[in-house]
Amino acid sequence: MKKIIINGNNKLSGTIRISGAKNAAVAIIPAAILAESEATICNVPEISDIESLEEILKFLNVDIKRATETMVIDTKNMKNKLIPTQISSKLRASYYFMGALLAKYKYVEMYFPGGCKIGKRPINLHLEGFKKLGATIEEDGDKYIIKAERLKGSNIYLDVASVGATINLMIAATKAEGLTTIENAAREPEIVNVATFLNNMGAKITGAGTSVIKIKGVDHLGKGFTEIIPDRIEAGTYTIMGALLGENLKISNIIPEHIESLTSKLEQAGVDIKIEDDTVVCNAVEKLKSVNIKTYYYPGFPTDLQQPFSVLLTQCNGKSKVEETIYENRFMHVEYLNKMGANITTKERVATITGKTPLKGKDVIATDLRAGAALVIAGLIAEGTTTIEEVEHILRGYEGIIEKLTAVGADIKIEEKTCQTA
Ligand code: EPU
Repeated sequence: MKKIIINGNNKLSGTIRISGAKNAAVAIIPAAILAESEATICNVPEISDIESLEEILKFLNVDIKRATETMVIDTKNMKNKLIPTQISSKLRASYYFMGALLAKYKYVEMYFPGGCKIGKRPINLHLEGFKKLGATIEEDGDKYIIKAERLKGSNIYLDVASVGATINLMIAATKAEGLTTIENAAREPEIVNVATFLNNMGAKITGAGTSVIKIKGVDHLGKGFTEIIPDRIEAGTYTIMGALLGENLKISNIIPEHIESLTSKLEQAGVDIKIEDDTVVCNAVEKLKSVNIKTYYYPGFPTDLQQPFSVLLTQCNGKSKVEETIYENRFMHVEYLNKMGANITTKERVATITGKTPLKGKDVIATDLRAGAALVIAGLIAEGTTTIEEVEHILRGYEGIIEKLTAVGADIKIEEKTCQTA
């Protein structure tokens, strides 16, 4: 178990370079098993979710070569096996092996995936979609046996524009016979990244990035190559830090359109940010105005930035409202922000934040990945020392967070937690 210790209130200046997007990489790596020869993936972030995927690939006898930021996957010795739940439950994205193994072998046995406990997070749309493609599904506790004689293209309408279901069904349909249409598909940039990769291997996918995706099945997928897009959630997290503590803090290697819903809210709050090509430059200002946010599917305000943004709202003058529409349980950071001095009340899916309140360093717990990111921001602006426990959640999604923040002037370190003996 590790903990992060932050001595707050240092200004941040210099440059933070954004890494490859977690939520694109965690889908592209499972999709890469469809390559009949090697697949090369560049700009892979060094985060623990990727280590968990490597563990799964090794278990399936896939050869992996890893150089800095590049992963080469070779499936010639691959074996289709039930991935032990101890590995697949380490992350949400293990569910992409359902679509990928189904496309490759027409047979997959897998357990329900893991991931942050931020709501119910069912996978019914993935399973219903597989059935539409001609698969049958047996459920045995939390294990699924998904098989098909042959996969056949179909029209699939998603009741919810789910990122995971859109990607999983797109992967499964690449080798189905005929045309598959996914309607009400999610439009997140990570989906475009996955589709481009699959097309590079020989798939025939059009419409990724819109709400109607068409996939014309092919028999073979060849060699694959792609580069992971910059992580818009990591970019947003550091931009929020810059808005609060920046002295000419530059966040580089970003795609500005991907964080527009955030930057427009920051501008509304009165933050001094400038966007220059692939960089955002942030300077903290004395007075910030309250603003309301409502999370929504892309291009709406991302749920993954809701918790980090709520820390900024504690420093805005007046009442702000945060409405979380995607998950039922994404306010677990609030208890700890209040412990640090914030004034936040929650009612169902709405949090009301009254600011501005100074924050004080305290002992807190990272209950999930983005709650952890929020507490790092809170620790950086707080007076005194903040100790964050259960930071394994944070390390799942933020490459080199300690090094990146130290390099721009933060006083932050990570330590192994020592056990107290009586
Ligand atoms: N949903 C269903 N049925 C399904 C699938 C989803 O009802 O079969 C519901 C979910 O319960 C949720 C909503 O649809 O209320 C959206 O879920 P979605 O499927 O879009 O989310 P996901 O694929 O499980 C990915 C990211 C999340 C991110 C969401 C939304 C990965 C591995 N995870 O999750 O990332 O919050 O999309 O953008 O890509 C994070 O990075 O911190 C994180 C949680």
